Amino acid sequence: MSENLNKCDIGFVGLGVMGKNLVLNLADNGYKIAAFDLDLEKVSAVIEQDKNETNNGEPRVVGCSSYTELLAQLKAPHLIVLSVPAGDIVDQVCQNLIGAGIQRDDIVIDTGNSLWTDTVEREAKYKDDFLFFSSAVSGGEVGARFGPALMPSGSPYAWTRVKPIWSAIAAKVDAATGKPLERSQPGQVIENGDPCADYIGPAGAGHYVKMVHNGIEYADMQLICEAYHVLREGLQLGCDEIANIFEGWNQGVLDSYLMEISVEVLRHKDVETQTHLVDLILDKAGQKGTGLWTAVSSLEVGCPSPTISQAVYARSISSFKELRKHTSTVLSAPEFTPLCESEKELFIEQLHDALYCSKICTYAQGFQLMKLASVEHNWQLNFASIAKIWRAGCIIRAAFLQSITDAFEREQQLDNLLVDSFFSEQLSSYQQNWRKAVAQCTLMGIPIGAISASLSYYDSMRCATLPANLLQGQRDYFGAHTFERIDQPAGHKFHVEWTSADRPIIKL
Ligand code: 6PG
Repeated sequence: MSENLNKCDIGFVGLGVMGKNLVLNLADNGYKIAAFDLDLEKVSAVIEQDKNETNNGEPRVVGCSSYTELLAQLKAPHLIVLSVPAGDIVDQVCQNLIGAGIQRDDIVIDTGNSLWTDTVEREAKYKDDFLFFSSAVSGGEVGARFGPALMPSGSPYAWTRVKPIWSAIAAKVDAATGKPLERSQPGQVIENGDPCADYIGPAGAGHYVKMVHNGIEYADMQLICEAYHVLREGLQLGCDEIANIFEGWNQGVLDSYLMEISVEVLRHKDVETQTHLVDLILDKAGQKGTGLWTAVSSLEVGCPSPTISQAVYARSISSFKELRKHTSTVLSAPEFTPLCESEKELFIEQLHDALYCSKICTYAQGFQLMKLASVEHNWQLNFASIAKIWRAGCIIRAAFLQSITDAFEREQQLDNLLVDSFFSEQLSSYQQNWRKAVAQCTLMGIPIGAISASLSYYDSMRCATLPANLLQGQRDYFGAHTFERIDQPAGHKFHVEWTSADRPIIKL
């Protein structure tokens, strides 16, 4: 179409850190971008950075000062990417695009951390105005610039138009080894490798999967923080010593981005005070809500995710700094004899294994949650594909994701990762050390909520019999809630007149 000559390929709204970097990533991959932000300084900033990165060559980004100008700069049918905060702002932008004349076959992609139910509603709400598509992004600012993990969902037709672009800008993994292919320079592109972007499912599915990614992210971070706490307070190790231990752990089964950055954070010294910065950071955790959404969803779906929920609680407990300062003077600590050098060495090894087993449990919970949600909403999620997407680019990227990919490739319908042959063998070999670490930390009085919640999860999941028989008796006693019997066919309900003299059993 001649009217498309010299026009931009993609419109971009929202030029914060993530947005600006996604624009430059798209530009590196040969797309011409029309960029808009209500804050025009941000528009100027991205144009300036584009100029610097291209040495004043052909501009790859065109600045726009209104939604109308943005649409006018674009090839038809229009493709517009939003990188704006989740919530009402997404709808405000959509309404502005409608006001500016967006067309029915135009596509708008929401890349924020939107609540998945909002995404479902939006697809329906805007269906007569344009195609609302979503694609959650993970990887922070560096990921956005040099290759994020992308979780697109919505109209399959929209995906056919988005796929080549998403495949180009996503992080890439070496197909043979499963290892990330590094890209770290402006202008650099990676043409081969498996892209960390694949169609997730109908509207909302991608944001649900990203939400669970973040729930796992919360748990992964908390597990590392608990290990740090134990080493710092229990073994009285310094930041550099802990960084060295983590660096060693990062060479093996715990190899992950979060472990890698923890080493850097622990080593970092405050320029002014020459103190390790981590010792100066206030121990009150922030949260934007995606971990909480995961925990809430796991309760709603009825899928146990105690490690993830515990990680959310840990952030909440941390926020009560003043109360904790007070309780620390009121509540007594256990008596504890410090470990000798050889005991310390053994304990560090046990802690490593505890972290690894807890990590397996975290992913088992996250994947089972996605599986149950997929059945409930008929999303038909492909778990091997999700694990593959998470191998690079995203915050939870880890060598371990290849083992999860392999597990789901062995058995697509796996109910829980714990029953996969590889993971069940790993848990079997490492569980003794896990138990010893939990016992030792408990004796020390160091809180390890996520590590011990994982162990209880493991023990509950491996018990053919749980004490819910007594619980059912209690429920029936006070509320006539009925129970089933193991010596009678499934589904038959019974009730006992617990307080009457002969206590008759009534079959209902
Ligand atoms: C990602 C991150 C990203 C964001 C978290 C932060 O995958 O790139 O998850 O989405 O950094 O949402 O979450 P909290 O502020 O709640 O820790």
